Amino acid sequence: MAKHRILFVCLGNICRSPLAEAAFRRAAAEASLDVEVDSAGTADYHVGEPPDPRSIEEAERRGIDIRHYRGRQLSTRDFHEFDFILGMDRSNMANIGRVDPGDGKARVAMLLDIVPGQEGREVADPWYGGPEGFSTTWHEVDAGARALLAVLLDETA
Ligand code: 4NP
Repeated sequence: MAKHRILFVCLGNICRSPLAEAAFRRAAAEASLDVEVDSAGTADYHVGEPPDPRSIEEAERRGIDIRHYRGRQLSTRDFHEFDFILGMDRSNMANIGRVDPGDGKARVAMLLDIVPGQEGREVADPWYGGPEGFSTTWHEVDAGARALLAVLLDETA
């Protein structure tokens, strides 16, 4: 079975997409699915930095250590290297569209669009709020991760 390559994208790559990466890594491991997973930001504000402390804490609450993750910026190469590129909100999707070289292989979608019943919903940016927002983010990205896993398992069945 071919390895699936998945990239989660948000604005800063320190709040939402690292949590999506963590949730999907765990879901794929539980299903013994061979995957390569990464995350990136459309902006370069936090390149080389670890995730936001509130994301690190939220992942820790779920038993996952993401302290070694480092921010990086989305590049045109990613569209050739990944099978799926998943943005968190409409603003991310517009930014992703500006980097898309147009001749890549990646299927580009907004994460919650693949969750039955959640189509059109955005994973809201928790950056400006309190820590409780990160719990909401976790539930949203985890739902997206599980739905993506179901799609991949279905396609490779
Ligand atoms: P993220 O959240 O896109 O979920 O990582 C943000 C992180 C940083 C900034 C904005 C959003 N910022 O403006 O620095």
